[in-house]
Amino acid sequence: QRRLTPIRIQSMKGSTPIVCLTAYTTPMARALDAHCDLLLVGDSVGMVLYGLPSTTSVTLDMMIAHGQAVMRGVSRACVIVDLPFGSYQESKEQAFRSAVRIMKETGCDGVKLEGGEEMVETIAFLTARGVPVCGHIGLMPQQVHTAGGYRSLGHNESEIARVRRDARAVGGSGAFAVVVEGMVEPLAREVTASIHAATIGIGASPACDGQILVAEDMLGVFTDFKPKFVKRYAGLAQTIEEAASAYADDVRNRRFPAKEHTFDVRSPQ
Ligand code: KIV
Ligand code: NA
Repeated sequence: QRRLTPIRIQSMKGSTPIVCLTAYTTPMARALDAHCDLLLVGDSVGMVLYGLPSTTSVTLDMMIAHGQAVMRGVSRACVIVDLPFGSYQESKEQAFRSAVRIMKETGCDGVKLEGGEEMVETIAFLTARGVPVCGHIGLMPQQVHTAGGYRSLGHNESEIARVRRDARAVGGSGAFAVVVEGMVEPLAREVTASIHAATIGIGASPACDGQILVAEDMLGVFTDFKPKFVKRYAGLAQTIEEAASAYADDVRNRRFPAKEHTFDVRSPQ
């Protein structure tokens, strides 16, 4: 196998920082593949590509379509696909059915699901049956409607206790990695030191075993809002706007298409 496996990703814990980004499409996967250890087909696709207000209306069919697109563009990175809201919380059997559909129909390397203690049985059920699972604790976007918004955790004793409990639970359930989202540094450090699964941080300090960002956030494509934890490595939204403006100007002034873009009767191409 040429692609990095979940086991290989876990083995990087404590030695090599694990580089992760999201990807939803073939061209993006092609551009990121050589530079990343893991590409996540995240349910953030709903907000980033579809303009949905949260991730909760994303469907299993959407995740499979984007998983297939990403798989067509990778040759090195491990590819993990998010189980969307409603496709796994009902029972471990429902989770297994959804995970198997994703793995069979996309050929990806594993699935990710959000949840702490309440997901331990499900994660153990899946991993015992051949489905590599990445957990996701801390800020869990699929629980935005009960959590009352997106905010960082670890600011009071009850938040700290909950994250600790969830980390221990998910870390001991067989997950090869855990996304650790939106928490203060000491808590992320403690979680990382206390479990065997690799921690992949987002808004969770440099103390994690790896880092992940939404590619469109760090590329400056998605500019609706910029969370504190995002670092912008490019400003593609502006580049796109400038290109569209130049194109519009060319068309309106009949500068495009030029001779080199126009088929010639004498030299068929
Ligand atoms: O959906 C997503 O993109 C995610 C990551 C940002 C961790 O879950
Ligand atoms: Na997600």
